[in-house]
Amino acid sequence: MIDKWIIEFDKGLRTLLAPALSSRPHPDKGLEEGELTDAQKQHALGLMRVNHCGEVCAQALYQGQALTARDPVAREALKEAAHEEVEHLAWTEQRIRELGGRTSVLNPLWYGGSLAIGVAAGLLGDRWNLGFLEETEHQVGAHLDSHLQSLPEADAKSRAIVTQMRDDELKHADMAHALGAARLPLPLRQGMKLSSKLMTAASYRV
Ligand SMILES: [Fe+2]
Ligand SMILES: [Fe+2]
Repeated sequence: MIDKWIIEFDKGLRTLLAPALSSRPHPDKGLEEGELTDAQKQHALGLMRVNHCGEVCAQALYQGQALTARDPVAREALKEAAHEEVEHLAWTEQRIRELGGRTSVLNPLWYGGSLAIGVAAGLLGDRWNLGFLEETEHQVGAHLDSHLQSLPEADAKSRAIVTQMRDDELKHADMAHALGAARLPLPLRQGMKLSSKLMTAASYRV
């Protein structure tokens, strides 16, 4: 058990401090940099910073859940999805740099909060753990859809990344559902929406 926590602690530090790596090619590979005005660039940067921050939270959630999941099948599925979340981190991180910005200074804060939520969800048992995951992935998928409406048309690179992430998140939601996720009560789902609104509003700016 102690070993498990040490491994996850190490992963946490790496999420926050080291550049992430992707096994799949970045979705924007080979696409031309679009002609963006300064305002459009700043907007795309803000949105990609929000997405990066969301992926940091995803790391923490999955880690918390993998620490506490009982069913080995669920644990394996969580690990595989977590690997794709690392790729999302890598894609958004690189795109932020290309747009001339940096990742959110608030990341450690959201990371800590998400890890606590992940552990708490995990302690409730696999059905609730997976239910929480399914709802999170649905909300993130909807959120990424709204970014696709908002990202400048000319920013084909960011759009390609967000599109692939959205598809992956919906796949993660289906996976959690197939593994027997419980449907979360409405107040909890609404609370999750509210806290993600706070997170997005803050990390868009800083
Ligand atoms: Fe993701
Ligand atoms: Fe996901």
